[in-house]
Amino acid sequence: MVVSNELITWSDKFSCGVKLIDDQHKTLVELVNEMFNHVTGNDLQEHNYFNRVINDAVAYVKTHFATEEKLMLATKFDGYTEHKKEHETFILAVVENIKDYEAGKRLTLSTFTRFLKDWVLSHIALMDKKYFEYFKKVASRKADGKLSINSEDVRNAMEGKS
Ligand code: FEO
Repeated sequence: MVVSNELITWSDKFSCGVKLIDDQHKTLVELVNEMFNHVTGNDLQEHNYFNRVINDAVAYVKTHFATEEKLMLATKFDGYTEHKKEHETFILAVVENIKDYEAGKRLTLSTFTRFLKDWVLSHIALMDKKYFEYFKKVASRKADGKLSINSEDVRNAMEGKS
């Protein structure tokens, strides 16, 4: 039997209402949980798993950051510079952690996963939350009831109509 544990449980309090962002955040949560489920205590197994998934995981995080940053720029969100800096600092920290892990230094898959969890949770709660309300203002409600930001919303925001 495969036992699946969640290190992070998705909650509506992480939701900003913009489907594109919410879907990406859910994928990040799944990614951390998936990694957590590969913590076996067997170094070789854990390293093999890590080597298999880490490049895709980092690429996904970068895609998510780029999406947020594009939306912030397009909607003239005034926290853009500070937020982008947080993203860059995180990527540098991840790269350092990966180097340490690959070099066999102190880090384990468990500590690496917990580092990711702590960062994802605090970043969504402290930084991403700052744009949640702002994005909602420039988002339009679609027929399916989901919020999304389309090019018209972006144009309106840039013209100061939102
Ligand atoms: Fe959702 Fe700023 O990362």
